[in-house]
Amino acid sequence: MALIALAADKGAPGVTTAAVALGAVWPRPVLVAECDQAGGDLVYRLPAAAPDDGTAMLNPARGLLSLAATARRGLRPDQIAEHCQRLVGGLDVLVGITGAEQAQGMTWLWGPLARAFAGLDPVDVLADCGRLGAGSPLIDLMREADLVVLFTRATLEQVAHLRERLAVLATELRGGPPIGVIVLADPRDYRASIAEVDRIVAGAHQRLRAEASASGPPPAPVTVLGGLALDPKGAELLSGQWGGRLDRSLLIRSAREVAATLVGRLAARPAAPQPGARPEPELEGRR
Ligand SMILES: Nc1ncnc2c1ncn2[C@@H]1O[C@H](COP(=O)(O)OP(=O)(O)O)[C@@H](O)[C@H]1O
Ligand SMILES: [Mg+2]
Repeated sequence: MALIALAADKGAPGVTTAAVALGAVWPRPVLVAECDQAGGDLVYRLPAAAPDDGTAMLNPARGLLSLAATARRGLRPDQIAEHCQRLVGGLDVLVGITGAEQAQGMTWLWGPLARAFAGLDPVDVLADCGRLGAGSPLIDLMREADLVVLFTRATLEQVAHLRERLAVLATELRGGPPIGVIVLADPRDYRASIAEVDRIVAGAHQRLRAEASASGPPPAPVTVLGGLALDPKGAELLSGQWGGRLDRSLLIRSAREVAATLVGRLAARPAAPQPGARPEPELEGRR
Protein backbone atom coordinates (compact mmCIF):
# COMPACT_ATOMS: atom_id res chain seq x y z
CA MET A 1 0.00 0.00 0.00
CA ALA A 2 1.25 3.49 0.69
CA LEU A 3 4.82 4.34 1.64
CA ILE A 4 5.22 7.51 3.68
CA ALA A 5 8.76 8.74 4.30
CA LEU A 6 9.19 10.73 7.52
CA ALA A 7 12.31 12.85 7.97
CA ALA A 8 13.82 16.06 9.25
CA ASP A 9 16.58 18.34 8.10
CA LYS A 10 18.58 19.20 11.17
CA GLY A 11 18.44 18.58 14.89
CA ALA A 12 16.14 16.06 16.51
CA PRO A 13 12.67 17.58 16.15
CA GLY A 14 10.93 14.32 17.04
CA VAL A 15 10.71 12.18 13.90
CA THR A 16 10.98 8.84 15.69
CA THR A 17 8.47 9.89 18.34
CA ALA A 18 6.12 11.05 15.57
CA ALA A 19 6.57 7.78 13.65
CA VAL A 20 5.57 5.75 16.70
CA ALA A 21 2.71 8.09 17.62
CA LEU A 22 1.35 8.03 14.07
CA GLY A 23 1.80 4.26 13.85
CA ALA A 24 -0.10 3.82 17.11
CA VAL A 25 -3.16 5.67 15.81
CA TRP A 26 -2.90 4.89 12.08
CA PRO A 27 -6.38 3.99 10.83
CA ARG A 28 -5.17 1.20 8.53
CA PRO A 29 -2.76 -1.72 8.96
CA VAL A 30 0.69 -0.19 9.34
CA LEU A 31 4.38 -0.96 9.79
CA VAL A 32 6.86 1.53 11.26
CA ALA A 33 10.24 0.96 9.61
CA GLU A 34 13.37 2.53 11.08
CA CYS A 35 15.46 3.55 8.10
CA ASP A 36 17.52 6.19 9.93
CA GLN A 37 21.09 5.93 8.67
CA ALA A 38 22.43 7.13 12.01
CA GLY A 39 20.94 4.04 13.67
CA GLY A 40 17.59 3.20 15.19
CA ASP A 41 16.29 4.07 18.64
CA LEU A 42 13.30 1.79 19.05
CA VAL A 43 15.29 -1.06 20.57
CA TYR A 44 16.32 1.22 23.43
CA ARG A 45 12.92 2.80 23.89
CA LEU A 46 10.09 0.38 23.49
CA PRO A 47 9.31 -3.10 24.76
CA ALA A 48 8.34 -5.95 22.48
CA ALA A 49 5.20 -7.94 23.07
CA ALA A 50 5.97 -11.38 24.49
CA PRO A 51 3.69 -14.44 24.79
CA ASP A 52 1.07 -14.39 27.58
CA ASP A 53 0.85 -10.59 27.63
CA GLY A 54 4.46 -10.31 28.78
CA THR A 55 7.11 -7.89 27.60
CA ALA A 56 10.57 -8.47 26.23
CA MET A 57 13.36 -6.44 24.69
CA LEU A 58 13.17 -5.90 20.98
CA ASN A 59 15.78 -8.06 19.28
CA PRO A 60 18.30 -5.67 17.66
CA ALA A 61 19.50 -8.41 15.31
CA ARG A 62 16.10 -8.88 13.71
CA GLY A 63 15.15 -5.99 11.48
CA LEU A 64 16.60 -3.92 8.68
CA LEU A 65 20.02 -5.54 9.00
CA SER A 66 18.78 -9.13 8.83
CA LEU A 67 16.45 -8.16 5.99
CA ALA A 68 19.32 -6.57 4.06
CA ALA A 69 21.43 -9.71 4.56
CA THR A 70 18.78 -11.88 2.91
CA ALA A 71 17.89 -9.37 0.23
CA ARG A 72 21.14 -9.20 -1.69
CA ARG A 73 19.62 -10.99 -4.63
CA GLY A 74 16.43 -8.96 -4.76
CA LEU A 75 13.81 -8.08 -2.26
CA ARG A 76 10.18 -9.17 -2.31
CA PRO A 77 7.41 -7.75 -0.08
CA ASP A 78 6.74 -11.21 1.37
CA GLN A 79 10.29 -11.31 2.80
CA ILE A 80 9.68 -8.36 5.11
CA ALA A 81 7.32 -9.84 7.69
CA GLU A 82 9.79 -12.31 9.20
CA HIS A 83 12.14 -9.44 10.06
CA CYS A 84 9.44 -7.41 11.84
CA GLN A 85 8.63 -7.43 15.54
CA ARG A 86 5.54 -6.43 17.48
CA LEU A 87 5.58 -3.84 20.24
CA VAL A 88 3.54 -4.02 23.40
CA GLY A 89 0.30 -2.43 22.27
CA GLY A 90 0.37 -4.21 18.91
CA LEU A 91 2.37 -1.90 16.61
CA ASP A 92 4.55 -3.77 14.11
CA VAL A 93 8.05 -2.38 13.63
CA LEU A 94 11.12 -3.11 11.51
CA VAL A 95 13.95 -2.11 13.80
CA GLY A 96 16.80 -0.16 12.28
CA ILE A 97 20.52 -0.66 12.18
CA THR A 98 22.42 -0.17 15.42
CA GLY A 99 24.96 2.37 14.19
CA ALA A 100 25.95 4.61 11.33
CA GLU A 101 28.85 2.33 10.29
CA GLN A 102 26.41 -0.36 9.17
CA ALA A 103 24.71 2.13 6.86
CA GLN A 104 27.77 2.45 4.66
CA GLY A 105 27.33 -0.95 3.06
CA MET A 106 23.62 -0.48 2.57
CA THR A 107 23.33 2.37 0.09
CA TRP A 108 22.06 -0.06 -2.56
CA LEU A 109 19.15 -1.09 -0.34
CA TRP A 110 16.90 1.96 -0.24
CA GLY A 111 15.35 1.82 -3.71
CA PRO A 112 14.54 -1.92 -3.65
CA LEU A 113 13.38 -1.64 -0.03
CA ALA A 114 11.00 1.20 -0.93
CA ARG A 115 9.52 -0.83 -3.76
CA ALA A 116 9.06 -3.81 -1.45
CA PHE A 117 7.39 -1.58 1.16
CA ALA A 118 5.05 -0.17 -1.48
CA GLY A 119 4.10 -3.72 -2.46
CA LEU A 120 3.22 -4.70 1.11
CA ASP A 121 -0.52 -5.08 0.77
CA PRO A 122 -2.68 -4.05 2.69
CA VAL A 123 -0.09 -2.51 5.01
CA ASP A 124 1.00 1.12 4.87
CA VAL A 125 4.64 1.77 5.79
CA LEU A 126 5.80 4.76 7.83
CA ALA A 127 9.54 4.91 7.15
CA ASP A 128 11.51 6.88 9.75
CA CYS A 129 14.30 8.29 7.58
CA GLY A 130 15.87 10.37 10.36
CA ARG A 131 17.93 13.35 9.34
CA LEU A 132 18.48 14.11 5.71
CA GLY A 133 21.99 15.34 5.08
CA ALA A 134 23.12 16.50 1.67
CA GLY A 135 23.38 13.62 -0.78
CA SER A 136 21.62 11.13 1.48
CA PRO A 137 21.14 7.77 -0.27
CA LEU A 138 17.66 7.73 1.29
CA ILE A 139 16.60 9.94 -1.62
CA ASP A 140 16.20 6.60 -3.48
CA LEU A 141 13.55 5.57 -0.94
CA MET A 142 11.87 8.97 -1.02
CA ARG A 143 11.50 8.93 -4.80
CA GLU A 144 9.43 5.76 -4.47
CA ALA A 145 7.29 7.09 -1.61
CA ASP A 146 3.70 8.22 -1.98
CA LEU A 147 4.31 11.12 0.37
CA VAL A 148 7.39 12.63 2.00
CA VAL A 149 6.76 14.33 5.35
CA LEU A 150 9.34 16.63 6.91
CA PHE A 151 9.10 17.52 10.58
CA THR A 152 10.30 20.79 12.03
CA ARG A 153 10.02 22.73 15.21
CA ALA A 154 8.90 26.31 14.77
CA THR A 155 12.19 27.88 15.87
CA LEU A 156 13.86 30.34 13.55
CA GLU A 157 16.90 28.18 12.95
CA GLN A 158 15.00 24.95 12.32
CA VAL A 159 12.65 26.65 9.87
CA ALA A 160 15.57 28.33 8.11
CA HIS A 161 17.29 24.95 7.67
CA LEU A 162 14.03 23.37 6.58
CA ARG A 163 13.60 26.04 3.91
CA GLU A 164 17.04 25.26 2.47
CA ARG A 165 16.38 21.51 2.58
CA LEU A 166 12.99 21.91 0.91
CA ALA A 167 14.52 23.83 -1.97
CA VAL A 168 16.92 20.95 -2.66
CA LEU A 169 14.43 18.18 -1.98
CA ALA A 170 11.60 19.66 -4.06
CA THR A 171 14.03 19.82 -6.98
CA GLU A 172 15.40 16.31 -6.40
CA LEU A 173 11.87 14.89 -6.16
CA ARG A 174 10.60 16.59 -9.33
CA GLY A 175 7.94 14.40 -10.89
CA GLY A 176 7.89 12.28 -7.73
CA PRO A 177 5.94 12.39 -4.48
CA PRO A 178 4.61 15.59 -2.91
CA ILE A 179 6.25 16.90 0.24
CA GLY A 180 4.27 17.68 3.39
CA VAL A 181 5.53 19.59 6.40
CA ILE A 182 4.40 18.93 9.98
CA VAL A 183 5.25 21.51 12.62
CA LEU A 184 6.04 20.31 16.14
CA ALA A 185 4.48 23.16 18.03
CA ASP A 186 3.83 24.22 21.59
CA PRO A 187 0.10 23.84 22.25
CA ARG A 188 0.04 27.39 23.64
CA ASP A 189 0.83 28.95 20.27
CA TYR A 190 -0.05 26.10 18.03
CA ARG A 191 -1.96 27.86 15.26
CA ALA A 192 0.40 30.84 15.09
CA SER A 193 3.44 28.54 14.81
CA ILE A 194 1.91 26.51 12.01
CA ALA A 195 0.77 29.65 10.17
CA GLU A 196 4.25 31.16 10.41
CA VAL A 197 5.94 28.04 9.02
CA ASP A 198 3.28 27.91 6.30
CA ARG A 199 4.04 31.49 5.28
CA ILE A 200 7.79 30.86 5.06
CA VAL A 201 7.44 27.55 3.23
CA ALA A 202 4.92 28.96 0.75
CA GLY A 203 7.15 31.97 0.00
CA ALA A 204 10.21 29.80 -0.51
CA HIS A 205 8.37 27.39 -2.78
CA GLN A 206 6.94 30.22 -4.85
CA ARG A 207 10.48 31.50 -5.47
CA LEU A 208 11.64 28.01 -6.34
CA ARG A 209 8.88 27.61 -8.90
CA ALA A 210 9.66 30.99 -10.42
CA GLU A 211 13.32 30.01 -10.79
CA ALA A 212 12.66 26.51 -12.13
CA SER A 213 13.39 26.12 -15.81
CA ALA A 214 10.29 26.29 -17.95
CA SER A 215 11.25 23.18 -19.91
CA GLY A 216 11.79 20.66 -17.09
CA PRO A 217 9.22 19.29 -14.68
CA PRO A 218 8.26 21.72 -11.87
CA PRO A 219 9.57 21.17 -8.35
CA ALA A 220 7.59 18.76 -6.16
CA PRO A 221 4.66 20.48 -4.44
CA VAL A 222 5.21 21.41 -0.80
CA THR A 223 2.34 21.78 1.65
CA VAL A 224 2.28 22.50 5.37
CA LEU A 225 -0.10 19.79 6.51
CA GLY A 226 -0.58 20.71 10.15
CA GLY A 227 0.99 20.33 13.56
CA LEU A 228 1.89 17.77 16.15
CA ALA A 229 1.82 18.87 19.78
CA LEU A 230 5.06 19.42 21.62
CA ASP A 231 4.12 17.41 24.67
CA PRO A 232 7.11 16.28 26.75
CA LYS A 233 4.98 14.04 28.98
CA GLY A 234 3.35 12.37 26.02
CA ALA A 235 6.76 11.91 24.35
CA GLU A 236 8.12 10.32 27.53
CA LEU A 237 5.16 8.00 27.79
CA LEU A 238 5.79 6.97 24.21
CA SER A 239 9.19 5.70 25.18
CA GLY A 240 7.61 3.53 27.83
CA GLN A 241 4.44 1.54 27.76
CA TRP A 242 1.22 2.33 26.01
CA GLY A 243 -1.51 3.20 28.51
CA GLY A 244 -4.75 5.07 29.06
CA ARG A 245 -3.02 8.29 29.95
CA LEU A 246 -1.03 8.25 26.77
CA ASP A 247 -4.18 7.71 24.79
CA ARG A 248 -5.50 11.04 26.02
CA SER A 249 -2.20 12.92 25.70
CA LEU A 250 -1.97 15.99 23.49
CA LEU A 251 0.65 14.24 21.40
CA ILE A 252 -1.61 11.30 20.61
CA ARG A 253 -4.63 13.50 20.05
CA SER A 254 -2.74 15.64 17.57
CA ALA A 255 -1.25 12.49 15.99
CA ARG A 256 -4.80 11.29 15.27
CA GLU A 257 -5.46 14.50 13.34
CA VAL A 258 -2.20 14.25 11.44
CA ALA A 259 -2.83 10.57 10.61
CA ALA A 260 -6.30 11.45 9.27
CA THR A 261 -4.81 14.29 7.19
CA LEU A 262 -2.09 12.06 5.75
CA VAL A 263 -4.51 9.24 4.91
CA GLY A 264 -6.81 11.82 3.31
CA ARG A 265 -3.91 13.09 1.17
CA LEU A 266 -3.08 9.56 0.09
CA ALA A 267 -6.68 8.93 -0.89
CA ALA A 268 -6.76 12.16 -2.91
CA ARG A 269 -3.57 11.31 -4.79
CA PRO A 270 -3.83 11.91 -8.51
CA ALA A 271 -3.17 8.91 -10.70
CA ALA A 272 0.48 8.54 -11.71
CA PRO A 273 1.26 11.04 -14.49
CA GLN A 274 1.37 9.70 -18.01
CA PRO A 275 4.80 9.81 -19.61
CA GLY A 276 5.29 13.23 -21.13
CA ALA A 277 2.45 14.79 -19.14
CA ARG A 278 3.32 17.81 -17.06
CA PRO A 279 2.19 17.46 -13.45
CA GLU A 280 0.19 20.31 -11.95
CA PRO A 281 2.70 22.85 -10.56
CA GLU A 282 0.37 23.65 -7.73
CA LEU A 283 1.48 24.93 -4.35
CA GLU A 284 -1.22 24.19 -1.88
CA GLY A 285 -1.11 26.30 1.24
CA ARG A 286 -2.69 25.05 4.41
CA ARG A 287 -6.23 26.41 4.58
N1 LIG B 1 6.12 15.84 20.34
C1 LIG B 1 7.10 15.96 21.24
N2 LIG B 1 6.93 16.70 22.36
C2 LIG B 1 7.91 16.83 23.27
N3 LIG B 1 9.11 16.25 23.17
C3 LIG B 1 9.34 15.48 22.09
C4 LIG B 1 8.36 15.30 21.07
N4 LIG B 1 8.89 14.50 20.12
C5 LIG B 1 10.12 14.20 20.54
N5 LIG B 1 10.40 14.77 21.71
C6 LIG B 1 11.65 14.65 22.47
O1 LIG B 1 12.72 15.09 21.65
C7 LIG B 1 13.83 14.20 21.72
C8 LIG B 1 14.11 13.66 20.33
O2 LIG B 1 13.01 12.89 19.90
P1 LIG B 1 13.10 11.86 18.71
O3 LIG B 1 11.74 11.42 18.39
O4 LIG B 1 14.13 10.82 19.00
O5 LIG B 1 13.66 12.83 17.56
P2 LIG B 1 14.35 12.50 16.17
O6 LIG B 1 13.89 11.15 15.73
O7 LIG B 1 13.92 13.62 15.28
O8 LIG B 1 15.83 12.53 16.46
C9 LIG B 1 13.42 13.12 22.72
O9 LIG B 1 13.95 13.47 23.97
C10 LIG B 1 11.92 13.17 22.74
O10 LIG B 1 11.38 12.78 23.99
MG1 LIG C 1 15.00 9.49 15.25
